[in-house]
Amino acid sequence: MSIQRPFATQIDLRTGLMSAYERHFLRHSGDMAGYYRAEPQADDLLIYEYFEREVPAEQGEIVQNITILHPGTIDGEYYMTKGHYHANGCCSEVYLCLRGRGTLLMQTRDGETDAQEYRPGASIYVPPGGAHRSVNTGDEPLVLFALYPADSGHDYGSIAEEGFWARVIRGADGQPTLVPRD
Ligand code: F6R
Ligand code: ZN
Repeated sequence: MSIQRPFATQIDLRTGLMSAYERHFLRHSGDMAGYYRAEPQADDLLIYEYFEREVPAEQGEIVQNITILHPGTIDGEYYMTKGHYHANGCCSEVYLCLRGRGTLLMQTRDGETDAQEYRPGASIYVPPGGAHRSVNTGDEPLVLFALYPADSGHDYGSIAEEGFWARVIRGADGQPTLVPRD
């Protein structure tokens, strides 16, 4: 087994900008066909950005990453991540909210459900087996730092098919409301 060198990353605690990253992707509305209950008006709406300090995808390694989830709705449904299960059902995750307001939806394959609130300083534990999706219910970027085992793997297909137990929409009172999956 090779021993990696320690490394440090400077993270801007307001913007989430990392001083270095090896993986980066953007998700636009066009990448999320079928995820929202309504069709987006355009394919080029920037929904979220992802930055990662990549390490070998091996047991014992931990990935650190930043998600910047922009504010907005698609026909009243707040911008959200795709969401996924970890392919390795033994792998958990921790999210630390640096900025913004939002909701972390979770569910298990056995039908257990949960929702936790993001606010600055909130550290939320996603247990093994819990699918997770982040939703920005505020009017500024939701900035999240997360740590997860590098051998987690990602199962997006199950969520693309079954969705989450609830959608987070702007209610008639202007406040975020969880409505059961249709
Ligand atoms: C990694 C993880 C997060 C998400 C990120 C984007 O396991 O849960 O870092 O990858 O918030 O969301 P997805 O991956 O669902 O598009
Ligand atoms: Zn994850």
